[in-house]
Amino acid sequence: MIKLFLKVCGKTIGFRGLERMVTIVVGGHFGDEGKGKIVSYLAMKDNPYITARSGIGPNAGHTVYMDGKKYGLRMIPCGFVNQNSRLLIGAGVLVDTQRFLMEVDMTSTKGRIGIDKRCAIIEEKHKIQDKSDGYLSKTVGTTGSGCGPANAERTFRTAKLAQDIVELKDYITDVPLEVNGAIGKGKKVLIEASQGFGLSLFYGTYPYVTSKDTSASMAATDIGIGPTKVKDVIVVYKAYTTRVGGGPLDTEINENNIKKFPLWPKILEQANKSGIKKDTVNETLAEFLVETGTVTGRLRRIGNFDFNLAKYSSMVNGATQICITCLDKLFPENMHVQNYNDLSSQSVNFIKNIEKQIGVRVTLISTGPEIDDVIDIRK
Ligand code: GTP
Ligand code: IMP
Ligand code: MG
Repeated sequence: MIKLFLKVCGKTIGFRGLERMVTIVVGGHFGDEGKGKIVSYLAMKDNPYITARSGIGPNAGHTVYMDGKKYGLRMIPCGFVNQNSRLLIGAGVLVDTQRFLMEVDMTSTKGRIGIDKRCAIIEEKHKIQDKSDGYLSKTVGTTGSGCGPANAERTFRTAKLAQDIVELKDYITDVPLEVNGAIGKGKKVLIEASQGFGLSLFYGTYPYVTSKDTSASMAATDIGIGPTKVKDVIVVYKAYTTRVGGGPLDTEINENNIKKFPLWPKILEQANKSGIKKDTVNETLAEFLVETGTVTGRLRRIGNFDFNLAKYSSMVNGATQICITCLDKLFPENMHVQNYNDLSSQSVNFIKNIEKQIGVRVTLISTGPEIDDVIDIRK
């Protein structure tokens, strides 16, 4: 809470204004940028009163490592790592009831997690349709989680809502009332989006996209807050660009172009030395960098950092800060580094070049999968 003073008719009056306390974390490339990891760090570091999940639904797989244990979360906010945080799932998010209940058990979050009563429900028929429709499963290469068909039904206005599902009755709440109430009391709120900008239904590489917009404004709408409430938009990029499923990846590395990208021949050499040799250069790199889809287990396609997409996505998202993850995978000497001054000069140049090209400060750098593997130079 901040106190403001105004001069009215010669008299000074004071009143309480509200400092904006909402941070949105979004993906700036094609998803899997490591939002889960960075959200879990922010949840521990900033101690938000609420962590809310926005985005499409259980097509997203966020990975969190805590105390050596790996959690693959598709419904529960990654902020669950902070025992004091209230956890919420916004109305824009699709809910898979069985998956949600399983994750509540896995994370022991019953009692502090709520679902908006208006979340639409993914039913078995949606998953079957997602997997059996040739266009969706083969051409677009969806995750098969039923999200597209469930959102289509929502648009037809025939989808079931969370408030209709008996198994969810203990979790039902009004997310906008909770979140705006907390904001009104000056409490911190952290919103984690899912997927990435290039998968946006509006701004991505249509038709190879997901079934909704994925930008920060959509994340705010998913939770039920107005844009005026948002303080920071942190756009997350991996130190290289990956994509799972169909669609263009402009900087994709292959046998013919690898020499054009200065860092990559050395990484390929390391992969070969460690005995990894797949059918293509790209698959070899993906296997070496352990780039396997959290939801589908598919190998992700590997590309050099896509500056054009990054610039555009920072613009549309209104980025106030940038987070770079997996720096240790490009520059292994930086694994677990937590101080900016301890970074190698090559990786400092890499970060500076990103700042210069995009025109936004890099304030968070992730140097390993564990929660504490972060360099935090936010003010
Ligand atoms: P979506 O919502 O599906 O887009 O996922 P996400 O952005 O949460 O990313 P996801 O967890 O699917 O994939 C990121 C992978 O990178 C996970 O396996 C993380 O554990 C890992 N990871 C994240 N940050 C780092 C890092 O800085 N270094 C290393 N080595 N691994 C990281
Ligand atoms: P859908 O969202 O399951 O309909 O899949 C549509 C496209 O988005 C496919 O190319 C998927 O591979 C991609 N996609 C959906 N969710 C994620 C994600 O969480 N990470 C990466 N790609 C995703
Ligand atoms: Mg993922």
